[in-house]
Amino acid sequence: MPSTPDQLPKQVAVLGAGGRVGRAVTAALLAGEHHVTAVVRDPGRYDPPPHPRLRVVRGDARQPAPLAPVLRTTEALVLAVTPFTAPPPSFDGFDPDYYAAIVAGLADAWDHPHRRLVAVGLTATLRLDSGGAVMDDPDLFPPALTPYAEAHARQLPALSATTLDWAILAPPGGFGTDPDPRRPYRLLREPLSRTQVMAALSHGTYAGAVVAEVERPTVRRERVAVVPG
Ligand SMILES: NC(=O)c1ccc[n+]([C@@H]2O[C@H](COP(=O)([O-])OP(=O)(O)OC[C@H]3O[C@@H](n4cnc5c(N)ncnc54)[C@H](OP(=O)(O)O)[C@@H]3O)[C@@H](O)[C@H]2O)c1
Repeated sequence: MPSTPDQLPKQVAVLGAGGRVGRAVTAALLAGEHHVTAVVRDPGRYDPPPHPRLRVVRGDARQPAPLAPVLRTTEALVLAVTPFTAPPPSFDGFDPDYYAAIVAGLADAWDHPHRRLVAVGLTATLRLDSGGAVMDDPDLFPPALTPYAEAHARQLPALSATTLDWAILAPPGGFGTDPDPRRPYRLLREPLSRTQVMAALSHGTYAGAVVAEVERPTVRRERVAVVPG
């Protein structure tokens, strides 16, 4: 019997569960009593502390069809993948529709009455109150990384073209630099000030925002920033 949207705990899958953000989100979901499916490309390289509500599944976000059986029991999906753990020397051959293709593929493969997708966003895509986006300001974002920011930006129209219940939560520029893993936070709609977009935020605090948006969505079919506050 399918659960209702308000029912907790939830069955949540995390794509990119082995990454910096994915690990923090997975831990926060488990602490919140949810059942978590960690989807990773190589389970042999993923060594989370064993947990009775955590299962690990091999899967690739870019090949969603084989994930259909997992998605059939998934009420909420957290998308935390990146092809670049560090800035690449070049973007030659990089697909600007990397994220757009992933979300379109997931929407096609995912058959469940409640399909909540929370995507980890990128500071560079956020619009500034001074005009333009962070990625347009060379003082805030290295122009050499623009192809990656563009790929993140294309995720929004791609999600809008689906019938998913989605939210993009964009972290601020100081993501991962705040040592406090549990600070109060705010969700801000664009445009934002330069101070707001460049704030420091821990992965733990950010993960708390993701879990809250999985449990009781307040952001529906739009992008917001997560900032300390
Ligand atoms: N300030 C900001 O806006 C900011 C800062 C940092 C990160 N972010 C965003 O946060 C997200 C996560 O970044 P992160 O720092 O956690 O990166 P990370 O530590 O490099 O982790 C990324 C994870 O994605 C996995 N992955 C890559 N491609 C995949 C695929 N096709 N299918 C399944 N898993 C795949 C990788 O697994 P493998 O081990 O298999 O490669 C890795 O575990 C990204 O969207 C990134 O842009 C934003």
